[in-house]
Amino acid sequence: MAKKKLIRIATLERFPHIIKDAEKFKGNWKTYFQNNNPITAELGCGKGDYTIALAERYPQKNFIGIDIKGPRLWIGAHKAEFLCLSNVAFIRFRIEFIADYFQQGEIQEVWITFPDPYPKRRQENRRLTSPNFLNRYAAITTPQSKIHLKTDDDVLYRYTLEVLEKHNHSVELYSDDLYNSPLMNELTGIQTTYEKQHIKQGKTIKYIMFTLGNSRKASGRSII
Ligand SMILES: C[S@@+](CC[C@H](N)C(=O)[O-])C[C@H]1O[C@@H](n2cnc3c(N)ncnc32)[C@H](O)[C@@H]1O
Repeated sequence: MAKKKLIRIATLERFPHIIKDAEKFKGNWKTYFQNNNPITAELGCGKGDYTIALAERYPQKNFIGIDIKGPRLWIGAHKAEFLCLSNVAFIRFRIEFIADYFQQGEIQEVWITFPDPYPKRRQENRRLTSPNFLNRYAAITTPQSKIHLKTDDDVLYRYTLEVLEKHNHSVELYSDDLYNSPLMNELTGIQTTYEKQHIKQGKTIKYIMFTLGNSRKASGRSII
């Protein structure tokens, strides 16, 4: 591993926004944030671009970025410290274990930003929108919690729509070309590090917003 990455891993926990032993806050995140404000999680947050941008816009909400890669979180934590954000936390762990960190209903909103597509069929279970992962999210959110996916990957986009329909989850909004759709707005238009690269390469950005309540099928508000 490059020296810079090793240094970042070694110094990661010096940042106040990086939470050590975060399991201890399960069910009690208000003691960490010192308030009862709703919590949004960014999964596979990388450098925490969405976490930081949303935290700046919504000081009355709390934001937690989660990723397994320490050197990427280092960058988000550095930014959060520089901006003196008190409504941001970053945690390093595998999303497979998310239910160890949050209790049912503790997360009000989720952003899954440009997850690895894992295109091979045998890798399907590793996709962050596979049924196993959706079950994990159901264990920490409410049936009304909005879950947003942004991806450049056509296969992952279509796969996610299929999984959501098969499991009778509610697809609220979707577009296979976000930037040329009415779904483009101040929030969906926040750009992550990976997204900027995809846009430079001329790829179209896809977006799905869904909930894990199983009462409704894709609604008439959906836009392709
Ligand atoms: C393609 S990058 C996107 C990063 C960032 N969201 C962006 O758009 O710039 C995917 C990120 O997801 C993280 N990741 C993938 N699977 C994960 C898992 N099971 N648990 C935690 N992080 C994961 C990777 O470490 C990586 O940083």
